[in-house]
Amino acid sequence: MRSDPPRVRGRRARRGLTAAAATLLAAGLFVNPVARGADVQAQARVDNPYAGAKVYVNPEWSAHAAAEPGGGKVSNQPTGVWLDRIAAIQGTSGSMGLRAHLDRALSQGANLIQLVVYDLPGRDCAALASNGELPPNDLPRYESEFIDPIAAILADSKYSNLRIVTVIEIDSLPNLVTNTNSRPTATAACDTMLQNGNYVNGVGYALSKLGAIPNVYNYLDAAHHGWIGWDDNFTATASMLAQAARASGSTVDNVTGFITNTANYSALTEPYFTINDSVNGTSVRQSKWVDWNRYVDELSFAQAFRQQLVNAGFPSNIGMLIDTSRNGWGGSARPAGPGAMTSVDTYVNGGRLDRRIHVGNWCNQSGAGLGERPRATPASEIDAYVWMKPPGESDGSSSPIPNNEGKGFDPMCDPTYTGNVRNGYNMSGALPDAPLSGHWFSTQFQQLLANAYPPL
Ligand code: BGC
Repeated sequence: MRSDPPRVRGRRARRGLTAAAATLLAAGLFVNPVARGADVQAQARVDNPYAGAKVYVNPEWSAHAAAEPGGGKVSNQPTGVWLDRIAAIQGTSGSMGLRAHLDRALSQGANLIQLVVYDLPGRDCAALASNGELPPNDLPRYESEFIDPIAAILADSKYSNLRIVTVIEIDSLPNLVTNTNSRPTATAACDTMLQNGNYVNGVGYALSKLGAIPNVYNYLDAAHHGWIGWDDNFTATASMLAQAARASGSTVDNVTGFITNTANYSALTEPYFTINDSVNGTSVRQSKWVDWNRYVDELSFAQAFRQQLVNAGFPSNIGMLIDTSRNGWGGSARPAGPGAMTSVDTYVNGGRLDRRIHVGNWCNQSGAGLGERPRATPASEIDAYVWMKPPGESDGSSSPIPNNEGKGFDPMCDPTYTGNVRNGYNMSGALPDAPLSGHWFSTQFQQLLANAYPPL
């Protein structure tokens, strides 16, 4: 039988042990995580699981990367393992299941593995490329056939020395804020998921089940600056995240932190303009690109949103992750200095690193490059830069492709599409000839290598 280690959060321990831990410490049964750091993650959560960690390299992604010319320069980087359907738990058609990944992590001598938990009922309500397998009302199956089996495997004492980072259900809760009610961006599918409560309750269930495992570190998805950086979305999204963290018997203490920019392309920092700049007396917030957003890049957004989340009730020691897998924007099109001070538009467009046509574009963006390599504690309040989206895996197919993965066709992945209300009716900026979401897209990987920044 498995003997459960004491449930002490390392973050609290940093400031002083709980009474329970102090008793165990006195009895010689508990090792103070402050004193011993990484040795004791089986006993207590550490403040930042990435600090001093050896992160698992997914051999399946690594093999794809290594098979590409030049791919060997990055094929030993850690990337996220996506549990994107029930069948992924056991493994699908020759691909590794959850236990196989965990076992391989142990044999690699890794002590941290990154999992993306992604199969809510009615998944991806504002897009079609990653529509899921479960219909909007099937919360019972999500809980019993997806979350429960994952939790049972993660709780195996064999894995108790692994720090298991779980990224919970990307895009879902932000969609409930920005794409519902009478907003022009609303979709019927997102309205349904708001009304039936299954995103909120599903996320709460996942957090409470997975958060009960002492070596699991839950990070909730917090979209990106080009999505919730506007005043209307910023506080409302933090409240929605707090609501979900308290649903289905969960509490905010089940949350170690948040991740921004998952599978997105927003630049980490924009060195050639700031939100406070103006041109001829006009603020850059009035430029077409910024369009009244409060943030121009991911790092400033992640740090500010962290504070908003604390204000919304999350513990003051939460940390942030930023997905830098595809936000490098290097290569020959990268600006070398600020844009011309002719107008706010020439200034912003001439100087911005993010070369997307519109900040709402998200599918297989042409011109993107690999971003910062994964690393721990890169900036204040940031637990790590991570490659949660495995670079080279498609965001969605450029044209409809029949499949049994529950994947739909989203025109935002078609390079000829002229857009919708969510990207201001701009061209999609997507690369042509892309395969289904999650499938290897060699052409994109080659471009990501060529446009990597920092360069490889
Ligand atoms: C897809 C998943 C895939 C993931 C990582 C998502 O867009 O829906 O199937 O595993 O991307 O590539």
